[in-house]
Amino acid sequence: PPRPLTDLHGRTVNYIRLSVTDRCNLRCFYCRAGKDTPFMPHEEILRYEDLLELIAIAEELGVRKVRLTGGEPLVRRDFMDFLETAVARHPRMDFRLTTNGVLLAPVAPRLKDLGLKAVNISLDSLDPKRFAEVTGLDAFCAVWGGIEACMNAGIPVKINAVAMRGVNETDLPAFIELARKRPIHVRFIEFMPVGGGTTWERERFWSSDDVLAEARKHADLIPMPGPPQNGDTDVDAGEREGREATSYTSGPARMFRIAGGLGAIGVISPLTNHFCDACNRLRISSDGRLRTCLFSDREYKLRPALRHPKLGRESVKKIITQCGAIKPLGYELLKQLTRERNAVCNKRMSSIGG
Ligand code: GTP
Ligand code: 5AD
Ligand code: SF4
Repeated sequence: PPRPLTDLHGRTVNYIRLSVTDRCNLRCFYCRAGKDTPFMPHEEILRYEDLLELIAIAEELGVRKVRLTGGEPLVRRDFMDFLETAVARHPRMDFRLTTNGVLLAPVAPRLKDLGLKAVNISLDSLDPKRFAEVTGLDAFCAVWGGIEACMNAGIPVKINAVAMRGVNETDLPAFIELARKRPIHVRFIEFMPVGGGTTWERERFWSSDDVLAEARKHADLIPMPGPPQNGDTDVDAGEREGREATSYTSGPARMFRIAGGLGAIGVISPLTNHFCDACNRLRISSDGRLRTCLFSDREYKLRPALRHPKLGRESVKKIITQCGAIKPLGYELLKQLTRERNAVCNKRMSSIGG
């Protein structure tokens, strides 16, 4: 296999997040997909052939894991056919999906056939009414159906809930019960002041430590072994031990088993316990801009080189390698940015892909 990309901080880059569309069928109040400004014009969005080319390039650069995000990836026409082609061309790549789950149920068996190891589903509340308040759509049952369909198909499910005081604090016991009864991993993500007209407020912020303290009132939490060091390639060992994350999957979540339960609960703490030192990921937005850190607005256009009749693959590789090498340490930006303004970046989450 090719030598993995490394950056100037010694981090290995072996994971990319590809946003396949900025469109979404929900309107989560904190994300602002489709609000104020329209979606990107169709011609700005990377074609599937561009995305396939990017995946091929990523593999040549040593990337092992590709996460497809949005907006909502399943709203893009023929997404499943694209995924099937991608999997067929890259049988060794670990493909993952982050989805809001609304359109998930009917495609779950096909995702299983394609060999997806897990599906991450964004779900902030287990209460249908609150779900509708947060997302603007009365679609809880559809999402729940998607979760059940994945479980029935044998695909492990991870739920991402954005932790928000006064919004889903009262959902915590229900999420714990869910993780107790079912083999689901629930992760509470710290609410980040992401740009694009963020609705972040200090009063809404619910830190991971506070989430865990609250969770401990309802269950005995048994820490799961942390993710291995960045660059560790012993993938199977992690899977065998049932860790949340393995080397290239190396996620930022800190997970806990629930005594006597089947699943796990945990936190992702981008603000209070940043994981920048072990960050292994690059992002590519749906219009083909390389983003080397969620917290940095510096982006590098890949589309011109990608579509250039002569430049092509080698020049895209060069951009990714050179820009990946100067991938910043997000927490340094965070300190500076939150002092200056109320947001860590200027783009909305629906175009970055989380
Ligand atoms: P696993 O590999 O399954 O653990 O997933 P993941 O955490 O890599 O992907 P997922 O899409 O489920 O991410 C969960 C959320 O955690 C993201 O949408 C972000 O909100 C947050 N997150 C993930 N990676 C980063 C990162 O590099 N920086 C920051 N600040 N937040 C991140
Ligand atoms: N802070 C934390 N997580 C967020 N997400 C979207 N916006 C934010 C934010 N401001 C989450 C979504 C989804 C993932 C892709 O990112 O809920 O789980
Ligand atoms: Fe859609 Fe995700 Fe944004 Fe919600 S957070 S509106 S599900 S892109």
